[in-house]
Amino acid sequence: MNIGFIGVGKMASAIITGLKQTEHQIIISGSSPARSQEIARQLGLKAAQSHQDLINQADLIILGIKPQMFNLVLSPLTFKQPIISMAAGVTLDTLGELTDDSLPLIRIMPNMNAQILQSSTGICYNSQVNDELKTLAREITDSFGTTFELDEKDFDTFTALAGSSPAYIYLFIEAMAKAGVKNGLTKAQSLEIVTQTLMASTQNLLASEDSPHDLIDKICSPGGTTIAGLLDLEKTGLTASVVSAIDTTITKAKQMATQKK
Ligand SMILES: NC(=O)c1ccc[n+]([C@@H]2O[C@H](COP(=O)([O-])OP(=O)(O)OC[C@H]3O[C@@H](n4cnc5c(N)ncnc54)[C@H](OP(=O)(O)O)[C@@H]3O)[C@@H](O)[C@H]2O)c1
Repeated sequence: MNIGFIGVGKMASAIITGLKQTEHQIIISGSSPARSQEIARQLGLKAAQSHQDLINQADLIILGIKPQMFNLVLSPLTFKQPIISMAAGVTLDTLGELTDDSLPLIRIMPNMNAQILQSSTGICYNSQVNDELKTLAREITDSFGTTFELDEKDFDTFTALAGSSPAYIYLFIEAMAKAGVKNGLTKAQSLEIVTQTLMASTQNLLASEDSPHDLIDKICSPGGTTIAGLLDLEKTGLTASVVSAIDTTITKAKQMATQKK
């Protein structure tokens, strides 16, 4: 199958890394013919001469442009094939209005871990997508990570929990590392210790029957260091801060969806 990308930035490039391991052919069209040539050379792909030239050649289109570019880029184009959009806050209805709602339309929400082929990717479909196309779409998303099939109403929550959350997790890592530096370790030492501990703790949770709460209880010995630090974290409201940040992310995604209408 010939898969065409319109817009090849950070996320589309990460997805292409996974797709290159499949049998599919990839063709791209960037912000200008010169950019298309440059990106095609960097990624070892074929460039189309224009977006419409790409549409004429591709069996499936993947949109890698930013949500705010949708109107401008899509309005002049005529599509004839299934379209996959990865844009935060752009609903299937809006995508249909901007392209053609009689076409099979697929919405995905990947995250930056696609760069190491470990994206957590949400996926949903409009009613034109048949089972064969669903299988193909999941084959594409599985090529760069793990796929979660969701109702579209849950997409904004998924965007917060998986699309944006790597940034929040990095902020937590950075804060822990700063605490290490404050107490005399080098930044490099602190980062290595924190990231290794985070990775092993996640693997431990995934491998165990225990909930996070059970594991917390196992680490907190009575009158010990961990319970003292844990209560301090809650004194400054860690749970409330995290829930508030996720709520804010969801609100922003919903606002973006309204603005696209
Ligand atoms: N980054 C994430 O973690 C993440 C997570 C989930 C979903 N997403 C979604 O992924 C999409 C891309 O995000 P990104 O982070 O990859 O952004 P990005 O790196 O800025 O990529 C956007 C690309 O669009 C290109 N572009 C601009 N105008 C264009 C035009 N008229 N025609 C074709 N291409 C054009 C830009 O080209 P130039 O480089 O030449 O300007 C750039 O390469 C967004 O819809 C975003 O919501 C991103």
